[in-house]
Amino acid sequence: MSTATASDKTTFIEPFAVDYDLAAGIMKNPTNHLARRASDMRGHYRNSAALDALIAGGDPVHYEVFEVPVPNEYGHLMYCISDLKPGVVGEECFMTKGHYHTRINTGEIYLALRGRGFMMMKTTDGQCRYEEFAPGRMVYVPPYWGHRSINTGDEPLISFCVYPGDAGHNYGDIEREGFPKRAFRRGGKIVVE
Ligand code: F6R
Ligand code: ZN
Repeated sequence: MSTATASDKTTFIEPFAVDYDLAAGIMKNPTNHLARRASDMRGHYRNSAALDALIAGGDPVHYEVFEVPVPNEYGHLMYCISDLKPGVVGEECFMTKGHYHTRINTGEIYLALRGRGFMMMKTTDGQCRYEEFAPGRMVYVPPYWGHRSINTGDEPLISFCVYPGDAGHNYGDIEREGFPKRAFRRGGKIVVE
């Protein structure tokens, strides 16, 4: 603690532990639970009429995030379980909103626990890459890359992620820019375009 500088405010906390069922992708006693519904996804899918129909049909939960929070400060590490449901909007695979980190030079580690999908990534100057998600696979999201999970399978896509406590979430720029690539399910095949 004595080596921290004034700009590195890092609150001292006691060690703690969290229990998981990693095969099922469950954090056993989360403190925070965030659920995003279809209605939270307006503007993100190509087929907005299909999204409206989904909302009118009961506005199902699209994805959930489970956390035991730590201080949002430099030095701490945030971590969570993200559970993205399977499904399509029109033909487009369910996905998260996606974001840059507010502190854009911070990366993130995603460990896939269950399901199949992609981590779609883009930079502010339009570069776009994606990596496949499958159980046991870690995807490294480097600093500067906006990121969005996409579920291409028939079961929940569950991942465990870790990122700097002071990273923050910038949704606005991704909402304005969109991602250059999207994933569709057509005739039983996944097509990225
Ligand atoms: C944190 C992170 C994940 C996502 C989660 C939900 O930096 O990348 O925990 O927050 O997968 O996705 P968004 O935040 O895009 O709605
Ligand atoms: Zn992130």
